[in-house]
Amino acid sequence: MAKKKEIVYKCSECGYSQPRWLGRCPQCGAWNTLAECIVDPNSTTAAFTGNSATEKVKPVPLSLVSAQENARIVTGIQEFDRVLGGGAMRRSAILIGGEPGIGKSTLMVQACAAIRKATPGKVLYVSGEESAGQVKGRADRLSLDTSGIEILCTMRLEDIKDALVALNPVFVVIDSIQTVYSVEAGIVPGTVNQLKFCANELIGWVKERDSVMVMSAHVTKDGVIAGPKSLEHMVDTVISFERNDDEVRFLRASKNRFGSVDELGIFAMGEDGLSCVGDPSAMFVTKRTGKTPAGIANTCVFEGSRAFVVEIQALTVPAKSSMSRVYSDKIDSARVARVAAVLEKRTGLRFSDMDLYINVAGGVRLAESAIDAALAAALYSARTDVPILDGSVIIGEVSLAGEVRPVQRVRQRVKTARELGFRDVLAPDDEDGARRISSVKEMLAAVFAK
Ligand code: TYD
Ligand code: MG
Repeated sequence: MAKKKEIVYKCSECGYSQPRWLGRCPQCGAWNTLAECIVDPNSTTAAFTGNSATEKVKPVPLSLVSAQENARIVTGIQEFDRVLGGGAMRRSAILIGGEPGIGKSTLMVQACAAIRKATPGKVLYVSGEESAGQVKGRADRLSLDTSGIEILCTMRLEDIKDALVALNPVFVVIDSIQTVYSVEAGIVPGTVNQLKFCANELIGWVKERDSVMVMSAHVTKDGVIAGPKSLEHMVDTVISFERNDDEVRFLRASKNRFGSVDELGIFAMGEDGLSCVGDPSAMFVTKRTGKTPAGIANTCVFEGSRAFVVEIQALTVPAKSSMSRVYSDKIDSARVARVAAVLEKRTGLRFSDMDLYINVAGGVRLAESAIDAALAAALYSARTDVPILDGSVIIGEVSLAGEVRPVQRVRQRVKTARELGFRDVLAPDDEDGARRISSVKEMLAAVFAK
């Protein structure tokens, strides 16, 4: 016989619960934190996660454990798989954050369709934000094959649990985790308590199954996964979607139990949804028909295992106030100021009475020291109004003494630039036919020589 539901008051700070409401939590002493919760003795939690309290877990020799084969589900979306470390690991939970409208739902529905094609098993898309019709509308616009994808539009955790038990899907999308609530975690939806409770229940399910669960989460303007920040330690992988001003989207992992966090996934959002950008150089070097204008220099950078050429743009104008300023958001301003100071000292050309504007084509953020020499060339070219020789790529770190210092993986950088058709590669090593440069002065003489 089903037992009666019971009401308890639970502290949102420490989780202490008791049968009466109090103004102050007797355990942690916090004020006004006790909230009404319903305890359902018929809850399916134990059966759902497969962890009944009476079941004992015993250690086994690690040497006898067989490593999982086919442990990853390759989604077939190349840039998504790259960021995950070669596909999504089974029995794992992935949190994908991003500001509203960036393309999380688009990526998720594309991933569902791609996985349905390549992997046996059911796919479940849980939407707490959009109706089934809206999700179908999007899939149709993207010309996706939706056969074999089940959709569930709900915000109730209990509905999701029932669907998971009934379908046993191989891939589950929860779009978004912020909309899911359970009466067991308090009356008010959307609290951190709710979020943690619901995520914990869902993660508990996926840990026991050969499935992958992806939970989307909205982030606030300043970039933190608000609320969902508290989920980061619970999930296996945290990835976030970022954008620049136009249609390019960057996918980056900040935590990954099953892969590196260096890989950058690059997508373009277009008419037919998100498409993978396999060759980033095409995106980050501006195509020009005429001559390259002054203030522009190319360099070769690494994002994870991938090298590509990017274009650095500089502009110098007389300072508007007695203090000159650096306006640069894609390259650290301190780096720009340091390279400008080295140039001033080593070449005698004044930068300290100039405002410096720096941009990177395609909006990718550059943090490597290997960009220093190209940055110096762009600044010098902008200041003198003399363009750099066409078809050149400059690689190297600049020291305060004005030397061009070696950087990691020079050979691969030179090779990439050559393969992309850049004739003149300047680098601190003469690898693969690159011109060797050892100082800023030498580099400037080489790129501006007629
Ligand atoms: P969406 O995936 O709904 O974002 P999120 O789930 O992160 O909130 O993306 C919506 C945006 O993407 C919206 O501004 C329209 C745009 N979009 C395209 O440009 N092309 C497309 O094919 C689709 C489906 C969306
Ligand atoms: Mg969405």
